[in-house]
Amino acid sequence: MKPNLAPISKACPMIRGPILEINSLRKVFHIDGSSLTVLDGIDFSVDKGEMICILGRSGCGKSTLLKMLAGFLSPSSGEILLNGKPVADPGPDRCVVFQEDTLFPWLTVKENIAFGLKGRARNKKTFDEEVERFLSLVGLSEFRNYLPREISGGMKQRVALARVLILKPEVLLMDEPFASLDAQTRDEMQNFLLSLWENLSHTIIFVTHDVTEAVTLADRILVMNKDPGRIREEIRVDLPRPRKREKSDFLFFSRKLYEGLRE
Ligand SMILES: Nc1ncnc2c1ncn2[C@@H]1O[C@H](COP(=O)(O)OP(=O)(O)OP(=O)(O)O)[C@@H](O)[C@H]1O
Ligand SMILES: [Mg+2]
Repeated sequence: MKPNLAPISKACPMIRGPILEINSLRKVFHIDGSSLTVLDGIDFSVDKGEMICILGRSGCGKSTLLKMLAGFLSPSSGEILLNGKPVADPGPDRCVVFQEDTLFPWLTVKENIAFGLKGRARNKKTFDEEVERFLSLVGLSEFRNYLPREISGGMKQRVALARVLILKPEVLLMDEPFASLDAQTRDEMQNFLLSLWENLSHTIIFVTHDVTEAVTLADRILVMNKDPGRIREEIRVDLPRPRKREKSDFLFFSRKLYEGLRE
């Protein structure tokens, strides 16, 4: 099964200035009369078309940060600006792909992909064409009538991707989307995501705790530390794509990140 995409070229998508600005973001949870500051002093901006990885150990607040960017959680203080406007609620301009399988189990692959588009397409013909285009884009045309339980984990994540990409979000938020896949499928999905990114030029914020995944994917890596979660370092990965893991420059970045996470 091959996605219907051109091979990855060395160039990255066009970068045209900031789309997201995050200023002095802070999140405090209140539980049973005590408060827990999970994120504090988070500042960064994301350029249009950029692939950002947020890297950090378990519990440092990566998912909390992503949920705030998605509008599922509100900040305790600070602001999130999308194209200069404050983010207050969830919206179709920011879509999320999670680690766990979030497909509707009673709908087929095609129906899952089509779900969010209902009521948005101009007419039935446009609707059908769009669904077919995205089925083909993720290489699942032949599996259109399968149910989620009848396809593999990697295929499910392709459906999850198609289901949000069809909505043409401005920013794609991904929370460890390949973490539950085996190593080989994970590699394939990383290459697949890079191909999609190159073709569709989305802005992507990808959360991971996996150093190799971050160096494989990112233009820029934001390394977080914990208690409270802060961005301790920003690393620009200026390696040409496709990136080879055995190469010395790849290993240089990996080592640097491992050291940063250990401190
Ligand atoms: N709704 C909530 N209420 C209270 N505490 C929360 C809530 N959500 C997250 N936390 C706490 O915030 C901290 C950060 O959690 P978060 O899920 O953001 O971490 P993470 O970096 O995504 O971890 P992982 O890599 O394991 O997914 C944890 O201590 C967690 O217990
Ligand atoms: Mg998480």
